[in-house]
Amino acid sequence: EKGNYRHFMQKEIFEQPTVVAQTLQSYIRPLEQTVALPQIDFDISAVNRVTVVACGTSYYAAMVAKYWFEQFARVPADIDYASEFRYREPVLEKGGLALFISQSGETADTLAALRHCKAEGQTIAVVVNVPTSSMAREADLLLPTHAGPEIGVASTKAFTCQLAVLAALAAHFAVRKGCLDPAEEADIVRHLLEAPACLNAALDHDDEIAAMAHLIAPARDVLYLGRGPDFPLALEGALKLKEISYIHAEGYASGEMKHGPIALIDESVPVIVLAPSGPLFEKTVSNMQEVRARGGKIVLISDAEGLAEAGEGCMATIEMPKVHPLIAPLVYAVPVQLLAYHTACVKGTDVDQPRNLAKSVTVE
Ligand code: F6R
Repeated sequence: EKGNYRHFMQKEIFEQPTVVAQTLQSYIRPLEQTVALPQIDFDISAVNRVTVVACGTSYYAAMVAKYWFEQFARVPADIDYASEFRYREPVLEKGGLALFISQSGETADTLAALRHCKAEGQTIAVVVNVPTSSMAREADLLLPTHAGPEIGVASTKAFTCQLAVLAALAAHFAVRKGCLDPAEEADIVRHLLEAPACLNAALDHDDEIAAMAHLIAPARDVLYLGRGPDFPLALEGALKLKEISYIHAEGYASGEMKHGPIALIDESVPVIVLAPSGPLFEKTVSNMQEVRARGGKIVLISDAEGLAEAGEGCMATIEMPKVHPLIAPLVYAVPVQLLAYHTACVKGTDVDQPRNLAKSVTVE
């Protein structure tokens, strides 16, 4: 079943161009150049606030979606871990939309949060990978990902497919809210359709990242930094590394580092910076200088423009294609997945069955 791959996780990382394309097919009308939801008997233009709830990697997809809902559709989004949301007595607007994100559709805390919102009269939307799951059955608005079965315990392809659905949902929201005109919608559709090719371009760096993993494997601690929609990717990169290589890692918003975590930086701490070029790139460059001044070793993941500007003096760089901000989080997921994967291989850990972890967390 693994074909030519050593591990399911590796196979699933490499499946991403295909499964993201497959997923987008249900959310895009390429000829009309419009985004469309599969089942739309619900007036999304009336929604004034979205509550998004999930756990783990799916929660990081929710974090990315918050940036998109607010930036593109001007719809405020509340996001929370399901285990926190359930017990904090959240204030829910009458007739609001609650969105749950889950690969398995069975995560106990997320399912309980869904049932709570249903009892509170919220409309329930679900981004889920298993179409026969409890969450899929209990949803009012089912937004499936078509990632296919995910066997590796560490989530990879389900995450990028979640992001593809959430990008389409944010664009759909934006159109319905009057924030995008047809030409802008067509432009977004074109960029979304480019995502599979950009994922392939990111995967082309596999050998290079495998070599780089030897620089990461000896570390005791690793920091990941990102800004905006790439901040959740820093958290995801740190989670992947912890899960499968057992190296302690933390993700921070780039601008937060000087408020504390910078105290950890010395020559022994690799700092992975996720920074596509763009209006905020300069800010991240100054955060990198703060790291460098303390002897920190930087791995910069950026596009050609970003690397030309700030690549010098880094321990290593990984060049991503230049992409639209809406697909950057999908593309930048690939190098952090590969870096975690290859680091775990160097350390010889059990990549597909990491210690203490289960694929589906059905206990609270
Ligand atoms: C991380 C990972 C977990 C899951 C989390 C939620 O690699 O796989 O953090 O993302 O347990 O699971 P689902 O998405 O099935 O609700």
